[in-house]
Amino acid sequence: MTKRYKALRGTRDILPEDIARWHFLEDTSRRVFERYGFREIRTPILEATELFARSVGASSDIVRKEMYTLDRGGEAMTLRPENTASVVRAFVEHSLHRNIASGYPERYYYIGPMFRHERPQKGRQRQFHQIGVEVLGAAEPLVDAETIEMVENFLDALGIEDRELVLSSVGDHRCRPAYREELRAWLEPRLHRLCGDCHRRFEENPLRVLDCKIDEDRQLLAEAPVLLDTLCADCESHLAEVRRLLDRWGTGYRIDPRLVRGLDYYERTVFEVVSGRLGAQNAILGGGRYDGLVEELGGPAIPGFGFAMGMERTILLLPEKRIPDERVDVALIALGAEGWEASVELARRLRAAGVAASTPVVERPMGAQLKRADKTGARFAVFVGRDEIAAGRYGFKDLSTGRQENLDEPTILARVGEAHGE
Ligand code: HAM
Repeated sequence: MTKRYKALRGTRDILPEDIARWHFLEDTSRRVFERYGFREIRTPILEATELFARSVGASSDIVRKEMYTLDRGGEAMTLRPENTASVVRAFVEHSLHRNIASGYPERYYYIGPMFRHERPQKGRQRQFHQIGVEVLGAAEPLVDAETIEMVENFLDALGIEDRELVLSSVGDHRCRPAYREELRAWLEPRLHRLCGDCHRRFEENPLRVLDCKIDEDRQLLAEAPVLLDTLCADCESHLAEVRRLLDRWGTGYRIDPRLVRGLDYYERTVFEVVSGRLGAQNAILGGGRYDGLVEELGGPAIPGFGFAMGMERTILLLPEKRIPDERVDVALIALGAEGWEASVELARRLRAAGVAASTPVVERPMGAQLKRADKTGARFAVFVGRDEIAAGRYGFKDLSTGRQENLDEPTILARVGEAHGE
């Protein structure tokens, strides 16, 4: 028997019957983001491996064990596990900071696949897709608050309920070292109760111990000192200002002092939106501020803020009713052999006028053709047979009311046009 192939574990085909939900998500994001002045950026999927080690962090789980890395002629390259590093790389490479000379930040968004070698489960894949945004060039809390407010707007436009916005601050390069030492001192006598991975994390970067996903470890770590209590005055007032703005605009959130993000580049504000309907992988999206990253990647000292949404997870949460059907305005129904070719020709003229028309193409009985018209959600059926061709008038049936008339071509076009306007 010939071997049959399957998509790789953790990867998935998105079939035509699923695509309406993807398009809805993408179209909504573009519409909402463009209202806030974001423009799309597309960067390569393959980047130098070192880019991610420098940004996401050499001790992060992503860089340590989840990257798809290959070697071509001694050059190590990686399928992007996330896109903030790539966007910042492009920003520095093309000196886009010149655009912010006027004082206004640059706002970019992206949509595309990311790759992480994780254990697949509901809402977690090895090739997954993100929609994300990055704002480069402003440290003001107003940017954090406005972008978070946009997230809420976006999720409302998608019709996603049952969600919670979780907010925190991870401090900056001034207040974090003191906390790292405090945490190290707390962890050291308890290390024997933590897993092997935690031992390694403790050596490399004690903050990463807080990433541990093992239940028993998490119970113990729930008692560890929290960074939020040791913020410096500047970080504290930054967070207070973000909160004041969100409160003023009625954007609800919960402060979670133990919110950990798996990437090293964050400073100050971090946030996630979680949903109780997703199970263990409950984050719909996550992000925060990364004021040191542009400089870390060889650019000038320019602050940044952004987030990325997991598209697979979001699609699981989309309400059914909001998804538009496949678009067919008119289904052509051929009556007998003469109608077959003529119906395709009539469809050509209708399509030239902007009408979405489905054709029989293969000869099928009228009943089967009508069944298909119904399945595609076509609004009208047009019947084409020998008599209709001779008279230049076609049976025109409104499939939602069942009403049928005999109409010429211009009238058919006018009727379909009117229905569009409804
Ligand atoms: P992240 O939290 O690693 O952040 O990923 C963002 C979102 O991508 C997650 O909340 C989740 O919905 C989705 N996601 C992550 N891994 C998987 C997976 N294996 N399968 C399915 N979905 C997944 C970032 O990537 C940052 N670059 C976000 C950011 C942008 N921060 C600042 N700017």
